[in-house]
Amino acid sequence: MLNSLQKEIISLKNEKNGIILGHNYQPEKVQEISDFVGDSLELCIKASEIEDKDLIIFCGVDFMAETAAILNPDKKIIIPDYGAECPMAHMLSADEIKDAKKRYPDANVALYVNTLAEAKAEADIIVTSSNAVKVVESLDSDQVLFGPDNNLASYVAKQTDKEIISIPEVGYCYVHKMFNVGDVTFKKEKYPDAEVLIHPEANVEVQDIADFVLSTGGMISHVKDSKNREFIIGTEIDLSTRINREFPDKIAIPLLDDGICKTMKLNSLDKIRKSIITEEFQVKLSDEIAKKSLKAIERMIDVSKNK
Ligand code: 13P
Ligand code: SF4
Repeated sequence: MLNSLQKEIISLKNEKNGIILGHNYQPEKVQEISDFVGDSLELCIKASEIEDKDLIIFCGVDFMAETAAILNPDKKIIIPDYGAECPMAHMLSADEIKDAKKRYPDANVALYVNTLAEAKAEADIIVTSSNAVKVVESLDSDQVLFGPDNNLASYVAKQTDKEIISIPEVGYCYVHKMFNVGDVTFKKEKYPDAEVLIHPEANVEVQDIADFVLSTGGMISHVKDSKNREFIIGTEIDLSTRINREFPDKIAIPLLDDGICKTMKLNSLDKIRKSIITEEFQVKLSDEIAKKSLKAIERMIDVSKNK
């Protein structure tokens, strides 16, 4: 049952012909009012298909709202809290990429969607955690500059013959970095029948003992289709919230109860309400950056949609 604030947000959004997009890490109350909840790739594809709306309220973090803005230059994209940043997305600058290109002139540049628009403008193609191997395999070059997540880079490197060169040298997600092998063994002892699903942003030794390494959207699909009942979920805590909400016959056990992405939680219901009324904070990008990064994002969407 929606509460009165949630109902008010939905009617305000409808008055403005808006749509609420929410990432899988949004808390339950925000998931409940989102028109669409998904992982980064699903949100990119959804954003690219929005035609009949004037306002997109993006409940996630900065790079996701920027990506929606790049894909929708004629619409207003608002993020309810200006401080909702992904620290990893700030770990790789456009200048660092330009320097790396000079050092590796034959390499293509594949950047994780968790980057800012200025960085994306320097990429040949974008990847997400659900398509990274397929996207890298689609490139012509044997060398690939890849960043900023070192763990996702290692995950891809294991599954391709291409040489993956990580930029920057150190790039990581502080939430997934928290998980260690001991956390998995501890939870496995408690729930021996549970399958272990781990996000590719987690450390390699944790990925290595997973039953499956999956994006957040991949975890949802896996749980939906699996005959198993219990799952240890090695990603941000509210992905477990979504599983337990949508699949009442399954049990999602967070790998760590404090695996919380703090900035993802800044988009409170109060701020969402206010942002629809004031239309703040709008995502603004320069035309040049938006055009350059659009090419790399659209190229990824094309590769992802091709079977
Ligand atoms: P997904 O694309 O798997 O949802 O990952 C996004 C993210 O930021 C993970 O921390
Ligand atoms: Fe960024 Fe990590 Fe939060 Fe994902 S979980 S948005 S990578 S800080």
